[in-house]
Amino acid sequence: MAATSLSETFCSEGCSQGRRLLAPAFQATYESGSKAGLGLTERLKITKPDDWHLHLRDGAMLEAVLPHTAKHFARAIIMPNLVRPVVTATDAAAYRERIMAALPEGADFTPLMTLYLTESTQPDDIAAAFDDGVATAVKLYPAGATTNSASGVRDIAKVYAVLERMAEIGMPLCVHGEVTDSAVDIFDREAVFIERVLHPLRTRIPELRIVMEHVTTKDGIDYVRQSQKNLAATLTVHHLMINRNALFRGGIRPHYFCLPIAKREVHRLALREAAVSGDARFFLGTDSAPHPDHDKETACGCAGCFTAANALSCLAYVFEEEGALDRLEGFVSHFGPDWYGLPRNEEAITLVKRDKPVGYVPKIEAGGERVTVFDPEVPLCWEVV
Ligand code: NCD
Ligand code: ZN
Ligand code: ZN
Repeated sequence: MAATSLSETFCSEGCSQGRRLLAPAFQATYESGSKAGLGLTERLKITKPDDWHLHLRDGAMLEAVLPHTAKHFARAIIMPNLVRPVVTATDAAAYRERIMAALPEGADFTPLMTLYLTESTQPDDIAAAFDDGVATAVKLYPAGATTNSASGVRDIAKVYAVLERMAEIGMPLCVHGEVTDSAVDIFDREAVFIERVLHPLRTRIPELRIVMEHVTTKDGIDYVRQSQKNLAATLTVHHLMINRNALFRGGIRPHYFCLPIAKREVHRLALREAAVSGDARFFLGTDSAPHPDHDKETACGCAGCFTAANALSCLAYVFEEEGALDRLEGFVSHFGPDWYGLPRNEEAITLVKRDKPVGYVPKIEAGGERVTVFDPEVPLCWEVV
């Protein structure tokens, strides 16, 4: 198998997009060639990735979705928006136990827990959970912004004391950045959140380290880029692949409904540019958010796309399309731990590009319910081996 330049290699079926040459600083191992019988054409070995924004749920759903993440990711930031939110250190420790118990035999996966910020959260409790290593971060949900956010924050002033304490101890705040004001157009809620909530908060407490979760707009990207310090953003798989048209193509498509809602193409392009830019403030948080199909395919469907099962295949597709496979490793494996001050993973994974699209199960089963896997509507040729 000979090393070769990426520009010379094309997938023979489906994935025919051309690519630019790899940058000289390419760290990951890349090989191309063919191996009789296996249909291998290209191979990419990278540090094992982490997922910096993940919903695992609980019970049967947890058992069904966790193996998909644990297969490809070493760690994940676990969102606390269970039906009964993960508010205290005791809640987080118990949830972590349930996650560990649901792991498939032999799996090597570390859940990094978050605490759900409420208006009655006490600074001392948060600090103790961080000190004890029970919680890695705190999650801010504006009340009513998204799934299970009813006990979130209505008035940011009520949590200033907690946020000030977090700034002192270096505990990060993960933010669902949308205003809930129904007078604000749903497509503008992220941009308005930056203006009304995030910027004033960062001005008031500049030492607070903040991750804007699942950024979906050019406004969000620009705001992170302009910041001097203490601000990063996660990007999801689906927001790099779809724009808002996907929601309405030929009829309403509930499996593309998530929050923040997918925006116009100009925004998707800005997200892609940030993802492949090598700017270490942008890293992967899949926001894989499973819901049973019957809760999505209904008159008032839940928000969330389940992407854990094909996230890396999708991302390899995106980065290849952008001529940036050399930047994939930074985005999925390096920048997240660097920002959180954690060591990078020592293990590696290998992605192989097949000469035919690889299949993935379109639906998984969870406690007798079906959950639809995100369909990127493009042929995926990369798979993790
Ligand atoms: C998430 C969920 O279902 O928990 N849904 C979503 O659309 N992203 C909540 C969230 O991350 O906002
Ligand atoms: Zn969210
Ligand atoms: Zn989420």
